[in-house]
Amino acid sequence: MAAPLIAPSILSADFARLGEEVRAIDAAGADWIHIDVMDGHFVPNITIGPGVVKALRPHSAKPFDVHLMVSPVDSYLEAFASAGADIITVHPEAGPHVHRTVQAIRALGKKAGIALNPATPAKTLDYLIDEIDLVLVMSVNPGFGGQSFITNQLRKIEAVRKMIDKSGRAIHLQVDGGIDVTTAPQCSNAGADVLVAGTASFKGGSGCYSANIAALKGTD
Ligand code: DX5
Ligand code: ZN
Repeated sequence: MAAPLIAPSILSADFARLGEEVRAIDAAGADWIHIDVMDGHFVPNITIGPGVVKALRPHSAKPFDVHLMVSPVDSYLEAFASAGADIITVHPEAGPHVHRTVQAIRALGKKAGIALNPATPAKTLDYLIDEIDLVLVMSVNPGFGGQSFITNQLRKIEAVRKMIDKSGRAIHLQVDGGIDVTTAPQCSNAGADVLVAGTASFKGGSGCYSANIAALKGTD
């Protein structure tokens, strides 16, 4: 089995030095840069907006994987697309017409992702699977880093993997929340190919980043 792609979440980076941190995690082997956008309404926490994404764009050529924990979300899509997002992932609960939201992301020329919260069933994807480029299975309730992995989401990862394989489309299966050296292989074995890790990527400071990423990939 191929090593998973690792998308470090900058939520766990030093917010006082975000540009430097993005450069460091890129150089340490990050495949994507996961950017958690939180509005204090859809989730209890507030993080960053499109202006910060724009400021970070010159610091890495790696895909900017923007996870919008924002509602209503449609009116922000263009701003994040122009700021430099490559992938824009939204939650179905973040607006009344998620199919239209996916169409809007793709009309902006970006890859569209759908994030499933722990209680959101895989069947939510039934009429979206042919329109999307990524499924994000949340293995924590969104809003904060450093939470514990919700083990019953492994069953959902397996179910989504079956849906993706049946679709015949090249859709990434990403998992986000509580990913560490124990849960990473469990998610890969269940069918994930991209893993988001905040705490596990950034722990120990920049001198540890490449070892952290190698450990998550299982290539250390
Ligand atoms: C939570 C975010 C996750 C989080 C992961 O709402 O979507 O990306 O930052 O953090 P860790 O890896 O620390 O669980
Ligand atoms: Zn995230």
